[in-house]
Amino acid sequence: MKNIAIFASGSGSNAEVIVRHFMDSDLARVHMVVTDRKDAGVIERMKSFDVRMKVITYSQLTNGDLLESLKVARIDLLVLAGFLRLIPTDIIEAFPQRIINIHPSLLPDFGGKGMYGMHVHRAVIESEAEESGITIHYVNEAFDEGEIIFQDTVEVYEDDTPEDLAYKVQQLEHRHYPDVIEWVLAQFDI
Ligand code: GAR
Repeated sequence: MKNIAIFASGSGSNAEVIVRHFMDSDLARVHMVVTDRKDAGVIERMKSFDVRMKVITYSQLTNGDLLESLKVARIDLLVLAGFLRLIPTDIIEAFPQRIINIHPSLLPDFGGKGMYGMHVHRAVIESEAEESGITIHYVNEAFDEGEIIFQDTVEVYEDDTPEDLAYKVQQLEHRHYPDVIEWVLAQFDI
């Protein structure tokens, strides 16, 4: 049984889909959800589930405290789902090819610092791009630059608002993220 830790700063809709997916799994379970914001929606959302919720400060993220907790809990895979802080080098080095992120655009387009959530969808609409989508990738020291594992696309219609696009992209995220996590876990044994 593999242990997953989800990192989320926002509403936690992806976190919920992932927790539900692995609830009855023999392969893995979500052991812990970590947030850096004490008002994050994910905290309320996780109250319905048997998952440890951990609220951390920026210094706990960077001073080794969180890394120690992840080791004590024997976490195998870190899954970022709307986590807005850069992951510090000590954590990246302790979890090689074991940290993944989801981004709501087709990277490398519309990625990088400051590109998250609705900022991404507004930028896509303003650029008049005809498609957008999701990217799931391994995490390295730079925002949104690790090796890409999976992408899928949605069409952007001329009259789509950023909110319309956000909805379509979120549907794709919920459909694919749990399966891609399973695929990544399967790579551990190869
Ligand atoms: C998701 O759309 C995710 O792709 C995005 O934050 C949202 C979190 O939603 N992540 C980024 O923009 C990272 N750069 P959720 O809290 O409802 O899961």
